[in-house]
Amino acid sequence: MEKMKRTDNCGAARKEDAGRTLVLNGWVHRIRNHGGIFFINLRDRYGITQVVVDSDSPSGLVEVAASLHMEYCIAVEGLVRLRPENMINPDMDTGEIEISAQKMEILSKSETLPFVIDEQTNASEDLRLKYRYLDLRSFSMQNNLALRSAVTFSVRKFLTEKGFFEIETPTFIKSTPEGARDYLVPSRLYPGKFYALPQSPQLYKQLLMVSGFDKYFQIARCYRDEDARGDRQPEFTQIDIEQSFVSREDILSLIEQMFNRVFDETISIKLPETFPRISYDDVMDLYGTDKPDLRFDMKLQDGSFLASLGNFQAFKDALSAGGKIKVLKVEGGAESYSRKKIEELESVAKIYKAKGLAWMKVGAGNKLEGGISKFFEGKENEVCSALNASERDLLLFVADTNGKIACTALGAVRSKIGKDSGLCDPKQFSFVWVVDFPLFEWNEDENKWEAAHHMFSMPQEKYLDTLESDPGSVKGDLYDLVLNGYELASGSIRIHDSELQKRIFRIVGFSEEDGKKKFGFLTEAFRYGAPPHGGIAPGLDRLIMLMCGQTSIKEVIAFPKNSFAQSPMDGCPGDVDLTQLEELHLQITGENNANT
Ligand code: AMO
Ligand code: AMP
Repeated sequence: MEKMKRTDNCGAARKEDAGRTLVLNGWVHRIRNHGGIFFINLRDRYGITQVVVDSDSPSGLVEVAASLHMEYCIAVEGLVRLRPENMINPDMDTGEIEISAQKMEILSKSETLPFVIDEQTNASEDLRLKYRYLDLRSFSMQNNLALRSAVTFSVRKFLTEKGFFEIETPTFIKSTPEGARDYLVPSRLYPGKFYALPQSPQLYKQLLMVSGFDKYFQIARCYRDEDARGDRQPEFTQIDIEQSFVSREDILSLIEQMFNRVFDETISIKLPETFPRISYDDVMDLYGTDKPDLRFDMKLQDGSFLASLGNFQAFKDALSAGGKIKVLKVEGGAESYSRKKIEELESVAKIYKAKGLAWMKVGAGNKLEGGISKFFEGKENEVCSALNASERDLLLFVADTNGKIACTALGAVRSKIGKDSGLCDPKQFSFVWVVDFPLFEWNEDENKWEAAHHMFSMPQEKYLDTLESDPGSVKGDLYDLVLNGYELASGSIRIHDSELQKRIFRIVGFSEEDGKKKFGFLTEAFRYGAPPHGGIAPGLDRLIMLMCGQTSIKEVIAFPKNSFAQSPMDGCPGDVDLTQLEELHLQITGENNANT
């Protein structure tokens, strides 16, 4: 590689370089033969430069050029020259020049490609993942990973400047219940015993607070055995943060400053200095979800007054049983939403357990038309003024004896309308804090209370006396950061008192003994002067996905798993040798026994 080592990259040469001799190394992106003149687009991660080989080139070069195929890896030495005026390509950074080749060497040949680089959008996802190393050659994937690298660097700089230490925590840990299923690693030395891969560094970062590392962060790999979907992978990365002697305000402000800095530094976007805050109760009532997309307004309204105003029985039934009537006004939606499109919205509402989706359209002079308008005859003006509706608006309604169903179902309709109507500009970033979450959730299937976030979050002080008697009404010192309808980060102020921690364990169904067995090391640590502390963990993959305007985190992870938690490239998870299983004291049973 000595003689033909690159002097420049393939995105660098400009018209000022005309007359220079340079050496480029890269891949043959495209090659065209125009009557014996070869135009080779040479690509590396910095860009593309056009190389020309013609009858004036030194002898032998035409033959080398004729033997090239797409994705051959080559070295070219040549003279930078200006392109003729009519050949200038304004779409290329290097479009004003070309390289007149003087020497060329094939460094490595390529077989026929499974898909054309930069046009792989036609390839199936599994094909892209099987040949991920080729997929990653595309500029879009290279840009996504470049941004990921820049964001990670910016985060590290910001937190380090603020006095945070980056500390690694183990990836082989004790299996402790934390929400999702653990990935387990069998121990060879201790038959029948297992390590677990961490779902997050949660307990370790809290222990680091006990150790006096008052400002900790880690770009941490986390592992959760749960079904993959667009914004979830079995292994993913968090920007994990914990701090001692802080209030909720300190954490929220730190994260606002961090995202301000990172967005400015990496994509030149100025975010608002502070992000709006909404309580969990309000966000559910106004948007029907705890991760609202605030790039568009469209709040759900209260339609209780409609029960007595008209004669629609479903409204009367819901309200008299203590439920809710929620209304969504779609401005100008009367024309764009046909009966068929409203039926599509109704099927979305029904996924969220709504009994139906009632509707009316506002016509000229506030006349209500279609749907359930006949039940409100003569009350048109009252309906429109209470809902602030005017001509051409569409009104959608869900009523339910369970108020939460009315909210979530209509909230899902709101999200669909937002997406379908192009209200979600991927270049707009709408952050919002959701605060004051309930500490516990009732698990219908198992008939028990469980932690809404995790078991280490602090209940708000005013609920300390009623934790056991009324767990459902307890609010925690919990916060989520939501970006464009995605949960970007979760965190809380933590419990640092072993007695309070034990009370929480009991409420979520751990006996004294169970709690001790699973989390004894934590409650033990809290007995030695544990400082008050709190933290948060933004998901790095989701952050980059949103910054890149993508809808799947696979697009911002170099080697992700497919939707079935497999890697089509190396075939994992795969079989192992029987001897490996024996060493681990494992035996595969039943039909799945492929390893014997
Ligand atoms: P939580 O479980 O809410 O909190 O996770 C924090 C953030 O991590 C991201 N995330 C994921 N990203 C991709 N794939 C997944 N499967 C996945 N699961 C979570 C999300 C989420 O908001 N220890 C606590 C944090 C804390 O309290 O400090 C925790 O892990 O962006
Ligand atoms: P029905 O009287 O059941 O034929 O319903 C008339 C319209 O009201 C249909 O469009 C239903 O989808 C809708 N609907 C029925 N029940 C409810 C409800 N609880 N909330 C909102 N709309 C409903």
